[in-house]
Formats: sequence, structure tokens, C-alpha cells
Amino acid sequence: MYNDNPTLVGINKKIDEAKQGQVFFKESEEAKAGKHFYIESYGCQMNFSDSEIVASILGEAGFQATRNIEESDLILINTCSIREKAEETVRKRLRVFNKIKDTKPGTLIGVLGCMAERLKAKFLEEEKIVDLVVGPDAYRDLPKLVATAEDGEKGVNVFLSREETYADISPVRLGTNGVTAFISIMRGCDNMCSFCVVPFTRGRERSRDAYSIVAEAADLYENGYREVTLLGQNVDSYKWAHPEGTEEVNFAQLIERVALVHPDLRVRFSTSHPKDITDEVLYTMAKYENICNYIHLPVQSGNSRVLKLMNRTYDRDWYKERVEAIYRIIPECAISSDIIAGFCTETEEEHQETLSMIEWARYSMSYMFYYSERPGTLAERKYEDDIPLELKKRRLSEIIRLQNHISLEHNKRDIGKTFKVLIEGNSKKSDLDWKGRNSQNKMIVFKKEANTQPGDYVKVKITDATSATLKGHQV
Ligand code: SAH
Ligand code: SF4
Ligand code: F3S
Repeated sequence: MYNDNPTLVGINKKIDEAKQGQVFFKESEEAKAGKHFYIESYGCQMNFSDSEIVASILGEAGFQATRNIEESDLILINTCSIREKAEETVRKRLRVFNKIKDTKPGTLIGVLGCMAERLKAKFLEEEKIVDLVVGPDAYRDLPKLVATAEDGEKGVNVFLSREETYADISPVRLGTNGVTAFISIMRGCDNMCSFCVVPFTRGRERSRDAYSIVAEAADLYENGYREVTLLGQNVDSYKWAHPEGTEEVNFAQLIERVALVHPDLRVRFSTSHPKDITDEVLYTMAKYENICNYIHLPVQSGNSRVLKLMNRTYDRDWYKERVEAIYRIIPECAISSDIIAGFCTETEEEHQETLSMIEWARYSMSYMFYYSERPGTLAERKYEDDIPLELKKRRLSEIIRLQNHISLEHNKRDIGKTFKVLIEGNSKKSDLDWKGRNSQNKMIVFKKEANTQPGDYVKVKITDATSATLKGHQV
């Protein structure tokens, strides 16, 4: 059950360039008594989803969430290591927490997530104020570790598991709009992309019990939610075998099961790996109206030599074939991407191939970064980070400029079309407007009509577009 938790509201604070730290709290009468924890999350959706598991575990142990960092007994920061900048942000926040601790001795500070895993006990030496260091597979141990820290010792658990999926834990929905929710379907990653720290911070890939995923989706639907996003670093390699050997469920079968929960429950997923996305998944998407026509298919680079150095295990032609399959089987599908500029030894011509891929694939949007060397990764050990920062930044700005242009064109093509939109809540700019998404994951803003509310599906005709948003009116 999710709704018997008091209302949880989140506030966004723009801190990092691309990612946001999110602060969660709950306001209730009971929250005035007992111990309080405060949690901020950085990094990918998996981390935000993990914070909801942490909130559930701490809730069971008698802790209550608060938005007021000053009144909290336990300050937690769920961290990301993906790029150097992400780690810098966390260290800056720790400085702030330190000041709070100065005024309120006895406050415990805990570092969770990928940075905790990467740095392990070293964190305690580097950041003296930290009392707890807890890796992504050790959250069940949190109540015990907090007790250890309360006794004046440091609490550390960075054990990576081959089994942990937190399948039995009902996440406490934090910062929720009551309409859309994330469901973790797997953890870890077995790919070894040479630039990437995730296999080291999240451990081996494992898939969660399919029945617990479907049950969580059904529960969310009953509680008014109308969209779930299934999360994993590489969802297409989802594979769960019943412990009694009676059945095996692959990703295509899983999305079908979740789609069958209710036709009014939208299903999304992220992230798809180009080497693993199958036609079976595409045909399943085409078969069910409620599986959204949107695929996040990170290319990283448009050049085959660079892709090989990145150890992505596909080349330009393979990627293009997958994109063609998507547009053939699901003509209305939108595709988005992640792109890294200035990877080791990338030449100007190779960079041009990334640009031409953006145009060719017609991405609706992309997350774009310049390469940031991460300690311990394959690339750090094998290749020289030889592209000067200025050049990386120039290539990135060219990528961003082109993608913005392609996004605008993509969105302009929607003018005049009518979409089924799921209302998520008030638009950022005005309480008189709703915001919601169409199947293609495009944000659409339109005037509120009488008798509409978040969680409703409405038809919206598009009249205007920017590179980020569509505008329209209900029909
Ligand atoms: N599992 C997902 C990606 C997770 S990380 C996938 O395989 O697509 C999210 C994105 O961060 C990556 O797709 C990549 O574009 C970017 N990224 C990862 N490591 C990076 C690094 N060292 N420097 C810059 N960007 C990086
Ligand atoms: Fe990192 Fe590659 Fe795994 Fe994605 S698939 S998390 S980029 S190693
Ligand atoms: Fe960051 Fe860890 Fe996610 S490194 S991107 S929080 S898996």
C-alpha cells in the first residue's frame, strides 16, 4: 500500500548542470515526534527510486522524513559518481551539512549510493564529518548502521550483492505527483563500457522477481497512479527465472505483463541498450496502446572506432539498423539518446559522425555530456584522456546546438496533431495550465478545462512548439 503514507512532497533545487538534487519531506502530526531523517538525491532515476526504498526501510525503523534539514537527526545524501561534476556537487553539499552539524552536534551525516560505493571507507578519511557510508546494496542494514553511529562509531557497509533487489520492500513514494512512479526491475550492470563507473558502483546485474514488479504496478494503479517507468541500466537484458524452474520471463514478456495490469496504466522503461533491444520488444510495444511509443536508446558516439574503444559492442551500422527497426515496427515512436563528446582519441571527423547520427536518427531529445575520466574504469586504465577540455566543450556545444535544432523540428512537426495526454499536474509557469505527456514522452502545456484533474487522460491539439515543450488546447 502506498497511499496510507502521509503526503510526501518534494521540492526541486537546481544544483547540478543536468541533474537535480531532490529534497523530500513529509508533513504530518506524527512527524513532530520521534527521530527525523532528511534525504537529498542526485544522479539517475535509479537513485531516486532507491531513496524511496531507503525511506521505507527507515520508516519501518521509526524514522520520519522531514523537509527541514535543521530539525533532522540524520542527514542523508544519495550520491552519483558518473562524472566528476556530480561528485563535486556532493562534496559541496557536505560542506553545507557540516555547518549544520556545527550548530547541532549529534546530527548524523550519511553518504549513500554510488559515491559511497566507489570511495568506501576512504570517504571517512576524506570527509571527516561523515558518520555513515552505505553502498546501494546495503540499505537493509541502515537501521543497524545508524545505531552504530549513534554509539559514536562509524557505520560502513559497502557490500555489493549478487541477489539483492529489494523486491519485497514497498517504496515510500517521495516527491510524488500521485500520477507517475518508477519501478526498479533490475540492479547493477554487466556491461563494461570503458568510460563508465556504474559496474563498479552498482555491481553485477540481477533481475527482480517478475511477480513483485507486476504486483507493485497493480498496487500503484489501485492507488490512482496512471504511469509506471520500469528502471534498469540495461532493461533489455532483464531475465528472471522462477526459483522452481517453472518459467523464465524476458523483458518483452515483462512489459506485456505490466501492460496487462490495466489499459489505463501507461508503461515506460529506461534504459535500452542498442546491442540488446529485440524486435520482440518492439512488436510488444506496437501491440499494446498503453506501452508508450518512446525509447531512450543512447548512442554515445556516432563513430564505429570510438564505439569500439568505448566497448559498447555495437557499431554505427548496427545502431542504425536498430533505429530503422524501431521506425518500421512503431512508426510513431520517438527516440532519445545519450551522447559523450570528446572521448579519448576522438578526431574531428569522428565527432562529425556523431553530429550526422543526431540528424539521421531524428532524436526527439538527448542528454549530452563531455567525457569525464572516472577512476578505475577501463578507459582510465587503458587510454589517455587526450582531448583538451576546451575542445571537448566546443564539440559538446556543437552537439547541443544541433540537437536543439533537431528537437525543435521534431516538435514543430507535431503542430496540428492531436495527442492523448496524461495530466501530471500544474504547469511550471501557471496554475491555470496543466502539464502532461503524450505517448512519445513530450511535455505538453495546455489550459485547464473544467472537470479535469491530474491522472486524467485528455485529448490535446498542438498549436505551438519550442525545442523543449509543446503547447495546445484540449479538444
Ligand atoms: N546504462 C545507461 C547509461 C547510464 S549512465 C546506458 O548504457 O545507456 C548515463 C549516461 O551518462 C551514459 O549514457 C553516458 O552518456 C553518460 N556517461 C557515463 N559515464 C560518463 C563519463 N565518464 N563521462 C561523461 N559521460 C558519461
Ligand atoms: Fe554504464 Fe554501459 Fe552499464 Fe550503461 S550499459 S551503466 S553506460 S556500463
Ligand atoms: Fe550516478 Fe550511480 Fe546512477 S553513478 S548515474 S547514481 S547508477
